[in-house]
Amino acid sequence: KYQKTYFMPSEATYDWVKKDSITEPPVWCSVDLRDGNQALIEPMSLEEKVEFFKMLVKIGFKEIEVGFPAASETEYNFLRTLIDRKLIPDDVTVQVLTQAREHIIRKTFEAVDGAPNAVVHVYNSTSVAQREQVFRKSKEEIKKIAVDGAKLLKELAAEVKGNIRFEYSPESFHGTEVEYAVEVCNAVLDVWQPQADAKAIINIPSTVENAMPHVFATQIEYVSKHLKYRDNVVLSLHPHNDRGCGVATAELGVLAGADRIEGTLFGNGERTGNMDIVTMAMNMYSHGVDPKLDFSNMQEIADTYERLTNMQVSMRQPYAGELVFTAFSGSHQDAISKGMAYREEKNCEYWTVPYLPIDPKDVGRTYDSDVIRINSQSGRGGVSYVLKNSFGLILPDKMKEEVGYLMKNVSDHRHAELSPEDMRDVFKETYVDV
Ligand code: KIV
Ligand code: ZN
Repeated sequence: KYQKTYFMPSEATYDWVKKDSITEPPVWCSVDLRDGNQALIEPMSLEEKVEFFKMLVKIGFKEIEVGFPAASETEYNFLRTLIDRKLIPDDVTVQVLTQAREHIIRKTFEAVDGAPNAVVHVYNSTSVAQREQVFRKSKEEIKKIAVDGAKLLKELAAEVKGNIRFEYSPESFHGTEVEYAVEVCNAVLDVWQPQADAKAIINIPSTVENAMPHVFATQIEYVSKHLKYRDNVVLSLHPHNDRGCGVATAELGVLAGADRIEGTLFGNGERTGNMDIVTMAMNMYSHGVDPKLDFSNMQEIADTYERLTNMQVSMRQPYAGELVFTAFSGSHQDAISKGMAYREEKNCEYWTVPYLPIDPKDVGRTYDSDVIRINSQSGRGGVSYVLKNSFGLILPDKMKEEVGYLMKNVSDHRHAELSPEDMRDVFKETYVDV
């Protein structure tokens, strides 16, 4: 038997409903090298993490959670390598995760010493299930774990070199009474006393996504309105994707007042993954808002991600999958080629081509090999488009239907897609040498 395990806040304002789109990019924090990495069958080696880190920097991430340095030797050495080899650009902050336990916090500070800009991210679990089943502790005792951790962070930050900021996560927020989560966060903030030039990060994780995105947004709106020192706090979200809504949760959460998003490329991460930053950033891009992340070379990013993580980018992965700009069906092909012709004729300022949510060129794709592909579902428009684009072969209007059916039938009998070269051969065999 199942029942709902989330909590609605005592007060709900629903102001976020009135907004239809995100107008400013949030601060992005990649957790690929921590949450993503810890969920891999074989976590990345030190050199692989270095390569991944460089890719994240190139994409434009300014905040990168690089690991849990107290968790393993590789994690520890990776952070030391970044610091000692001076691989962290001046405008990039590295973030490290630690549980709110004294020896782990101390080890983390040993690892982070000397990083030019770092966030030390401390967490403890606050949900009813974790309090009762795992820790067997009262609400007060759980709050004390967070507060003691916060105190130690403040003390140790004064002893290391580099600019250290603090982040706190009430882990398992999804199963925590919202008012209690705010109480714990505010107790932590009371210790840190954030200032305008030393903001603290409060990070709200849907550790296991268990509610619909609008419920999360309503919770976040409550948190945003009830956090102390709000002007000096960066409200961050860390959605997971158990119900398949990680991106929607992040988007509505930003509408509800969040300033920052933690996620991963292509949604890698624990179980069904973290929210996918590529999709959310490109969704904003498709609304005309610059996400301040550069995915113009999507294929290279996807190839590097696949090689380093041994994960696969699905053919249907938004904005990145092999098939996401492809039309096989005749009516779609026809609409796309007419839309492209209209765009050229009218010199359109905005992208409005039917069936293509963005211009494929913006993520490094081509019209020729990516958009119109021919199989048994295709029509004359698509067939004439490919023959013209690939070989300069312009079919007379009267011939288009016949050649369209010819290619469709050959593909149907072969049970295979036809490449432009296949089509040229079929054309040659059927008609004359071209
Ligand atoms: O999902 C989660 O709750 C986490 C925390 C450690 C932030 O990864
Ligand atoms: Zn997580």
